[in-house]
Amino acid sequence: MTHTPPEHEPPHDQTPLEDPLTDHEYDGIKEYDNPIPGWWNWLFAGTVVFSLLYILFYHIGVGPSIHEQFEAETAFRLTQRFGKIGDLKPDAETILLYMNDPEWAPVGKSVYRSKCASCHGADAAGVAGPNLTDDLYIHVKKIEDIAKVVTNGANNNQMPEHGSKLHINEIVLVSSYVASLRGQNLPTVGWTADPGKKIPAWPAPPEPKADQAPEPVEPSPSGT
Ligand code: HEC
Repeated sequence: MTHTPPEHEPPHDQTPLEDPLTDHEYDGIKEYDNPIPGWWNWLFAGTVVFSLLYILFYHIGVGPSIHEQFEAETAFRLTQRFGKIGDLKPDAETILLYMNDPEWAPVGKSVYRSKCASCHGADAAGVAGPNLTDDLYIHVKKIEDIAKVVTNGANNNQMPEHGSKLHINEIVLVSSYVASLRGQNLPTVGWTADPGKKIPAWPAPPEPKADQAPEPVEPSPSGT
């Protein structure tokens, strides 16, 4: 007789919510305990699979590493740029001409950094190779000998040959860079073998040739 029919009870207390609530509540806003959507889980699993493939391809050696790609790209751009100056001659005049060239001297410097600094030091004061900033030289008697040493190497390849590894313009430009370091006279680091002998100063640099001066900018016909 005291039985209350269930339909009199407020429906919201009885009908369970489809998604249960969590106990998080902020300013009266409640949070459903929804499962993470399937697409999200697949996306996450996808990034894990991608990272494994990436490591396999780029780091374990199936594909070219980022560094190799970068070097190939740099070499390609450089060869394109070299089209402007043609093949340089590794002679005294050319090496002197490019010593302080604002456009090309940085190329010599970057060749030095990537191919020579490991042995001759970032500032060229030596490490496993001789100091290149003073007046003492072992193999170099004249400025063009720098390019010869770089091309052919020296002392049974303790100074490695670079003739097969560098473009002729890279050899000339790095030689110009090395020549430009002379006179800083940094104290020698690391190199304890023959310091070499003092050689005469480099000849004076030639005047820039007309065809190597920057091209004049043509005024545009439309005047804009
Ligand atoms: C593996 C180490 C190594 C690398 C890399 C290297 N060198 Fe050398 N370099 C030497 C050594 C060692 C000598 C001295 C050889 C000897 O004992 O006669 C030398 C000598 C030279 C000389 C002659 C110096 C003199 O006193 O006559 C020049 C110039 C030179 N290197 C420039 C370069 C340039 C430019 C590069 C980069 C393109 C380069 N080297 C890369 C080790 C290296």
